[in-house]
Amino acid sequence: MRRHPQAAADALAALQQQHLRRARRTVLGYGEGAGSTRPRWGDAPLLNFCGNDYLGLARDPRLTAALTEAARHWGVGSGASHLVTGHTREHQLLEEELAAFTGRESALLFSTGYMANVGVVSALCGRGERLLQDRLNHASLIDGARLSGGRLLRYRHNDVADAARLLAPDEGAPQAGSAVLIATDGVFSMDGDVAPVAALAALAQQHQAWLLVDDAHGLGVLGAHGGGLLEQAGLTGQQVPLLVGTLGKALGTFGAFVAGERDLIDYILQRARSYIYTTALPPAVAAATRAALKLVRDEPWRRQRLAALVTRFRAAAALEGLALADSQTPIQPVFVGDAARALAASLALQQAGYWVTAIRAPTVPAGTERLRVTLSAVHDEAQVDGLVAALAEALRTLAPA
Ligand SMILES: Cc1ncc(COP(=O)(O)O)c(C=O)c1O
Repeated sequence: MRRHPQAAADALAALQQQHLRRARRTVLGYGEGAGSTRPRWGDAPLLNFCGNDYLGLARDPRLTAALTEAARHWGVGSGASHLVTGHTREHQLLEEELAAFTGRESALLFSTGYMANVGVVSALCGRGERLLQDRLNHASLIDGARLSGGRLLRYRHNDVADAARLLAPDEGAPQAGSAVLIATDGVFSMDGDVAPVAALAALAQQHQAWLLVDDAHGLGVLGAHGGGLLEQAGLTGQQVPLLVGTLGKALGTFGAFVAGERDLIDYILQRARSYIYTTALPPAVAAATRAALKLVRDEPWRRQRLAALVTRFRAAAALEGLALADSQTPIQPVFVGDAARALAASLALQQAGYWVTAIRAPTVPAGTERLRVTLSAVHDEAQVDGLVAALAEALRTLAPA
């Protein structure tokens, strides 16, 4: 966009016309009860069916207590980056607990998942080196590749044969196919389906490439102990050397980490610019996350309940003929056709008392606009049934695509 007094206004008007202009809603509070899934931003609280608080921990009083107590001891800000004076005992203990929880030697905290992916990918991939990523990977993995100056090749979504094709050496240049890194979302954030991690691990091993799995939406949710997609798939740290997890979703707090073998994690600590050149998380957030990790381990009922709600939602939605994705996770997108319809459906749901955001391009490919429904362990059966009925009614009243 060139500098011109009208330029921003014109660009905004164009986005508006294409139904692609985004706006925020300010949450004014929550309905009664710590487990409330009813944020208020207008007159009445809405039932939230689009957050990432899968286990219902974000407003759990035990996390609030841990945060408050730690803030009394440590204060609010960490005051510096980890490599200066910002790395406290709370951070250190959390890293050790995350390493143990994920069955890895070592873990390194980042301030956000976005920064973890950008930092890890750009630390491991040098200028001109090749790296492979799923076409539907999260923006932060793609941005890490761009920042690295490496050559990014994107394989068709969840298509291991396509990834293998990109790695196959050609006859004239036997090394031409090699890559340093293969990266994939574990659970895809907008689709809810899971990556074929065992096959990707075998491919990466065969080509001596690092495999990075970003399990932002699987950690805490999948696996008998909440260890995520890799626990569910029974894959070791040997098979998947780099596991990225985020703390702002199922764990209900904020931040992220990468876990793996000790030297590899230490190398990332030396190299990841989004780790080195930023202020460490507040120690109280690390303390709250330690409390969350304990609940993820000690309260498996949350995962079991969530899985039951997913089954219930899918069965009811199928009866109503809704267009669902092939997802067994709490991310249950409902495809609606285009951006205008997605916005209209979201508005109709809002009028019926539900908050389900319309997801449009460029977050998802144009033509695959959707309502991204997500479920949480603190929803109940009646709420899920009510949502499905409201969805069916909203889609019935929409103009045809
Ligand atoms: C797959 C995936 N990775 C990374 C992130 C970024 O995590 P954070 O919100 O902690 O920056 C997200 C979503 O926010 C995500 O969906």
